[in-house]
Amino acid sequence: MTKLYSTITVKQVTLSNRVVIAPMCQYSARDGIFADWHFANYSKYALGRPGAIILEASAVQEIGRITHGDLGIWSDAHADAMRGIVGFIKGQGVVPGIQIGHAGRKASIQRPWHGNGALNETDAARGEEPWQVIGPSPLPAGKGWLVPKEMTLADISKVTRDFVAAAKRADDIGMEILELHAAHGYLLQQFLSPLSNERTDEYGGSRDNRMRFVLEVTEAVRAVWPDTKPLFVRISAVDGFEGGWSIEDSVVLAKALKTTGVDVIDCSSGGNAAAGATASTGYRGPGFQVPYADKIRREADIATMAVGLILDGPQAEAILQNGQADLIAIAREAIDDPFWPRHQAQAMGVDLDFAGWPEQYGWWLDRRARGLHQLAKSET
Ligand SMILES: Cc1cc2nc3c(=O)[nH]c(=O)nc-3n(C[C@H](O)[C@H](O)[C@H](O)COP(=O)(O)O)c2cc1C
Repeated sequence: MTKLYSTITVKQVTLSNRVVIAPMCQYSARDGIFADWHFANYSKYALGRPGAIILEASAVQEIGRITHGDLGIWSDAHADAMRGIVGFIKGQGVVPGIQIGHAGRKASIQRPWHGNGALNETDAARGEEPWQVIGPSPLPAGKGWLVPKEMTLADISKVTRDFVAAAKRADDIGMEILELHAAHGYLLQQFLSPLSNERTDEYGGSRDNRMRFVLEVTEAVRAVWPDTKPLFVRISAVDGFEGGWSIEDSVVLAKALKTTGVDVIDCSSGGNAAAGATASTGYRGPGFQVPYADKIRREADIATMAVGLILDGPQAEAILQNGQADLIAIAREAIDDPFWPRHQAQAMGVDLDFAGWPEQYGWWLDRRARGLHQLAKSET
């Protein structure tokens, strides 16, 4: 019996295994609306049978999109367009979740394959104009990037209300995990980090003040997100730049998030700069963010999800067995092999007869495997 392929229950939601497909923006929406590409993309992952799938960062405000192609959840119509995939994911025995967020000063940029930088004339010629971005302070993420409008107290409370409205919509369409995006240099992290927050009011200065916005959003969301359903928060456990947010800060934040009713801290890192979604100066090798999940789990006494270059089942199993995390998120491995959870299970001796596969596939693959086995025996 592996830990990776054993169930886990968080609040009243049970995952059939500990593999979670991490949120992955497709930058393929028009006006923020979930479309055919998204359905095909997420249905593939559902057929691979992870424990849960967390849909990509979905913007709580139109100006909170990273790019023109981001998904949104700022209106009921946006949420309604996701109902079909929620049903499909559940039908495969997988738990559907969604990440909601606001890009703040890192909004209004190019899709990765268009350059990942501030929108320019080439983008405008394609009909993709920049828009006014907001942030804790008028500090651009980098040279040539838009200068954010410093948020007023009214702006702060509006974003909080929009997170709440988005959470209600996610609940209404049947999502079972809600993840708040407080990582990768987007709005909530911009408030946390002294690199992007130079406010002098109650939302800036001391660490407690910089944590205030994230905690207020979390508390307000938890009040409307059902008690029976898990709330995750993804953080950048470290900024990865000198003078930035540290792992010790993250332990303090995780303790505070726990008291607001957060169930799982999803431990990523980096991103609070102009270069790339998760830019940092740190080492990036297999399992590079696992030590963050481990430390937060032990010191804040809260469940964690590890992510980042987790490449195979045995590596994932070791992380769980060592008590470094409770859940394993994978992203690019799943792009490469949407059947990663099933393939890794078989490599670890689980479900060798394909009984857990959809019957449309399992029956054939089992017969094929038996046939090949017979053939090999007859040839020896
Ligand atoms: C195409 C793509 C889109 C991503 N979009 C998001 C996102 O919407 N929200 C987020 O928190 N992280 C996002 N990430 C980061 C992943 O969730 C994950 O943390 C990262 O890729 C490291 O995991 P991996 O090594 O298994 O790919 C994205 C990554 C990829 C490859």
